[in-house]
Amino acid sequence: MLIGRIEDALEHDNLRAVAGKVNLIFTSPPFPLVRKKRYGNETGEQYLKWLESLAPRLSDLLAPQGSIVIEIGNSWEPGVPVMSTLGLEALLAFKRAGNLHLCQQLICHNPARLPSPAQWVNVNRERLKDSFTHVWWMSRDHHPKADNRRVLLPYSGHMKGLLKSKKYNSGVRPSGHVISTSGFLTDHGGAIAPNVLRISEDDAALPEALLQFSGTSADFKYREYCKTHGHELHPARMQMGLAGFLIEFLTEPGDLILDPFGGSNTTGYAAESLKRRWLSVEASADYALGSRGRFIEQEEKAA
Ligand SMILES: C[S@@+](CC[C@H](N)C(=O)[O-])C[C@H]1O[C@@H](n2cnc3c(N)ncnc32)[C@H](O)[C@@H]1O
Repeated sequence: MLIGRIEDALEHDNLRAVAGKVNLIFTSPPFPLVRKKRYGNETGEQYLKWLESLAPRLSDLLAPQGSIVIEIGNSWEPGVPVMSTLGLEALLAFKRAGNLHLCQQLICHNPARLPSPAQWVNVNRERLKDSFTHVWWMSRDHHPKADNRRVLLPYSGHMKGLLKSKKYNSGVRPSGHVISTSGFLTDHGGAIAPNVLRISEDDAALPEALLQFSGTSADFKYREYCKTHGHELHPARMQMGLAGFLIEFLTEPGDLILDPFGGSNTTGYAAESLKRRWLSVEASADYALGSRGRFIEQEEKAA
């Protein structure tokens, strides 16, 4: 993990050395509207220009069939119940400047999220609870490395019944889809995951490979470590299951993953657990040092 701004890190030998070799850049960039407050930097149009300026340089780090996945939460205008479109505008500018294709949009639904924005949802009751983030998957190639067989979901009870009974109604559905006589009779080991992910900490319906991320132990270790060592807990940690899902879907063991806005290094920990190599960059030394708590067992084993 490099401590410093990604703008500077991109000039550093560690990142120059991996140009054209990164299989996945997975990140959740700083939030546009609070950026001034938290990081003393760009807002509005300047934020857009700043993110856009990073796109070509990050894109150049990608392996020919590498992917860039960006998670962006919904953001709101200050003081009014109106959503900001800045995050989306910045994303489109990033896509253009990085010469990237949009492979797919994913929605990550977190039903356990506390009601927000509190003023408009809880107090005035004039907006609904904001409970999902956008995940944008982009790449330079039309066919980036990806295999949905690595992230199969457990079959539903109904599907298990079909596989067992080998009986279902084939033919044309009202939607026009033609259901073949045997298409549903093969057991592929699980169901293809949809692009709406529901990844809550206690979700039993996670892909098999990701059950290791469904508990809270990694986060518990991290919180305990920050408490004991006096580090601030990162206030905007992404869900470990989301990082794990995309890493598993878009890379293979041994591949290299980069998070340019590493925060508490959720990406690095998920990558390490799935036997991928990783690099993270984080501007705040305190967040970066606190993230060591995620790796406590590995550090103890190595000692
Ligand atoms: C939304 S958070 C990422 C959270 C992270 N995904 C996690 O799970 O902990 C964005 C992070 O970007 C960092 N940051 C802001 N500006 C940066 C810059 N120019 N270079 C590198 N990191 C930066 C912030 O300190 C913050 O930790």
